[in-house]
Order: sequence, then C-alpha cells, then structure tokens
Amino acid sequence: MERDTDAPLALPEWLSAEELTRLRDLATAMADDAARLVVTERPRSLGVEATKSSEVDVVTVMDQRSEQLLRERIDAERPDDAILGEEGGASEGTSGLTWVVDPIDGTVNYLYGHPFFAVSVAVCIGDTTREGAWLPVAGAVSAPLLGETYAAAHGQGAHLVTADGRREPLAVSDCERLELALVGTGFGYEAAKREEQGAAVAQLLPKVRDIRRGGSAALDLCFVASGRLDGYYESGINAWDQAAGQVIATEAGAAIGGAPGGEMGKAMAIATAPGIFADLTDCLFPEAR
Ligand code: IPD
Repeated sequence: MERDTDAPLALPEWLSAEELTRLRDLATAMADDAARLVVTERPRSLGVEATKSSEVDVVTVMDQRSEQLLRERIDAERPDDAILGEEGGASEGTSGLTWVVDPIDGTVNYLYGHPFFAVSVAVCIGDTTREGAWLPVAGAVSAPLLGETYAAAHGQGAHLVTADGRREPLAVSDCERLELALVGTGFGYEAAKREEQGAAVAQLLPKVRDIRRGGSAALDLCFVASGRLDGYYESGINAWDQAAGQVIATEAGAAIGGAPGGEMGKAMAIATAPGIFADLTDCLFPEAR
C-alpha cells in the first residue's frame, strides 16, 4: 500500500538535531544492552520456542527476552512513545514517535550459533503500521559476535563503533557498474515466496560480481552503509528488519527505494551505492523499464 499523499514525510519542528542525537544514543545503548543479553544469557541448549509464518520461521526464548528488555527500557525512558516489535506487535503512544525493534534480526543464524545476527532499534515518525507511511529518523544495529554497532541520526551521518571503541564514519562504496557489484539479498520463510525470490536472484546472478545471503536484513543494510556490499535488495521484509538499517544506509549515502513508484518496504527494499541504483532496479523490474 502507498501513502495517501505524495508529499514526503517531513520532520516535525520539535525534533531538533540535539533530540535526534539523544534518540540515536539511546537506541545505541538499548541495542547494545539487548545484544549483550542475547550472548551472555543464551541457554546452553537453545531450542525453538514458537514458529510464525512457517515451520522454519522461528522464535527463541532469547528473542522474547531481548524484546522484553527493549520494551521495558523504552517504557521507562520514553513513556509517551509508541512501540512496534517483531515479537510483541504494536503498542500506542502520544508523542508522534514509534520505536521499531527487532530483538534478534537473523534468528536462524542465532539458533545455529552463526555470528551474523543483530539487535535492531529505530525511532520513526509517521504511521509504522502502514506501508510507506513512516520514516526512520535515528537508529542502531548492534552485532555482538562481530563486535560492531552501527548507528545514525537523520542529517548527522552514520558511524560504526568497533569492539575496541573506535568510532568510524560510514560511507557507501563508489561502485558504478552493476557487473562489478557485490549484492546482498535475503529470502522469506514461505516456500511460494522463495520460488519467486529464487527466480529473481537466478536472473540477476549472471549480471553482478556475486551475490551474498547473510541472514540479517538489518546487517545487510549496514554492510551497504560501510561499503562491504555495493547493494542489497529483498522483497517481503518487515518494518523491524528495515527501519534502523534504512536510516544508517541513507545517512552513509545510499540510494534507497522500492518497487517502481513505491517506497522502500515489504513489496521491495533496495539500498545501493548511488551509481548502481537505477541499473539494479531495472534488473529487478525489467517490465517497468
Ligand atoms: C529475517 C532476516 C533475513 C531476511 C528475512 C527476515 P528474522 O529476520 O532479516 O535476512 O531475509 O526476510 O525475516 O526473522 O531473523 O528476524
């Protein structure tokens, strides 16, 4: 679904640069705390607590505990803000800000002990329950086993904090040729969706340097921000997979978009170095050329 109006979402006046910095730093502190929790308190024999869209779309007890920690922190420190979480759904607020949280993005990797997973925390304006009607304005993605935390605030650039405390500004790659691009993507959990995604990736593969499937959309977007990927696309992702990574990639200079004529969102999310955005979009939607 698209927004009712074509006007871009404008930042409210009260959301000053200082306030955005505070929100980014709060998102970072909360993402780091939850990331620490999922590593230090991971049960020795971690199992599947529940499944969602299919038998392979899993929830662990640590997804639930991480989201509980994030919700308690947001309720304590920002009681007027709304929350949208992967496991707990939406709760209302009065401030006009919504925290969009993914307690573990890359849950399947986490279940297997694969290090490519992260906690993703974003602050958004607009209506996060409506496709294309919201915008992330600050956020953080904390990947504890990589020892990396990515963060950004609207208009203030994006940075990475490494395990040894170094803070590095982020910038997308200068890739200008799709045939030389390293492109990340991801797949949903339903067989029919995967058939579609498999067909799309099969026609793209001969046209790029190579394809990567990391297993965490939030980190894929951060890898575009840092130049470790030249681009990323995926159809079917949710607001909590996208929100923090979107503001980080945007602030690092990425071009972002969705299906032709639509916003970045569930139908399609694309984030690339500016030099390959048009060619990747054309490749994914040849009929719209
Ligand atoms: C998933 C990851 C994965 C992407 C899926 C998402 P989850 O999130 O981000 O990379 O391909 O579409 O659902 O389930 O691990 O939170």
